[in-house]
Amino acid sequence: EAADKGGWSSFMAKEINDQPDAVANTIRGRLHDGQVEIPELTALGDEVLRNIDRIIIIACGTASYAGMTGTYAIEQWARVPVEVQLSHEFRYRDPVLTDRTLLISVSQSGETMDTLMAVKYAVERGVKTISVCNTQSATIPRESHAAVYTHAGPEVAVASTKAYVAQITALYLIGLHIARVRGTMSAEETQQAAHQLDELPEKFREAVATHEQVAQLAHWMADTRSVLFLGRHVGYPTALEGALKLKEIAYIHAEGFAAGELKHGPIALIDHGQPVFVIVPSPRTAPIMHSKVVSNIQEIRARGARVIAIVEVGDTSVLPYADDVIRLPLADALFEPLLQVVPLQWFALELSTAKGLDVDQPRNLAKSVTVE
Ligand code: G6P
Repeated sequence: EAADKGGWSSFMAKEINDQPDAVANTIRGRLHDGQVEIPELTALGDEVLRNIDRIIIIACGTASYAGMTGTYAIEQWARVPVEVQLSHEFRYRDPVLTDRTLLISVSQSGETMDTLMAVKYAVERGVKTISVCNTQSATIPRESHAAVYTHAGPEVAVASTKAYVAQITALYLIGLHIARVRGTMSAEETQQAAHQLDELPEKFREAVATHEQVAQLAHWMADTRSVLFLGRHVGYPTALEGALKLKEIAYIHAEGFAAGELKHGPIALIDHGQPVFVIVPSPRTAPIMHSKVVSNIQEIRARGARVIAIVEVGDTSVLPYADDVIRLPLADALFEPLLQVVPLQWFALELSTAKGLDVDQPRNLAKSVTVE
């Protein structure tokens, strides 16, 4: 078994480290001369994608946060309203579905029962369905009209890491494919997005290298009982995912919030020494959101929070207010969540390790939930 872990202490550590390759493999063969073309979607027919007026992404757990991240990018690029719904909520709300609705399911295993049932429900109502899946020939892709596989390789640890970033990558590729078909992006925007995709694997290598710094932080914080995560825009699902990882493997109470909600409740939780991870958007590509998040940091710091800021390299604006600063390579705003989640994954892993827990097999959880 040690050999399968590639020398790492856990499958999860190996899988976090695998992320540059997972993302590179998901992009491979789908980006040609600065344009995204996914053969499986071409087979579905351009007419279908031109005709849609709404996209619903369905998923559970980590995959739902990948879906949520995807909503921002697909909507921005393809100019179609996109929403994410939890698979188990979707079916029971009597959803409004038409022949212009497109349903995209996201599932690492392709076997999550609630997601499968939601896909079947949509298919029965004449809705076109695309499956984003990491497991070849699983049930969900077989039940869908098209399958866009993430090529992250087998994921063994219960807590998802490389499949998550591969899912976001696949959703971004789908967004760029639909945008090309619908002609909703300028040549310059297309080129810029392709450039960002091209550079991702290399940037992931740098993000993975935050391990040592984050490990130290986690070991100092081994007795922490509650951790909060704040993010805005695409940083919001990242905050939710960072909190989920801690719950899953470190059994710590953790919550993610949209930074703009701070004043509507969460700020009451801030007490002396309360650790808060803040996901700071790029000051270059998202200056307005950046300045809002910096004021959120000032507000929580003034109330005694211990601030751990995740910033892009060169952003010194948070230095006066942050106790710890984790630096990531430069990326355009929509591409930042892919990198920002990496130190949060390491943090959960190292905190779990510091508490002497089983990182790969957390209590009460299964890799794939095949019952409703
Ligand atoms: C379980 C796993 C999670 C996963 C979720 C959805 O809860 O423990 O890691 O995110 O199922 O799984 P799926 O295979 O559909 O992505």
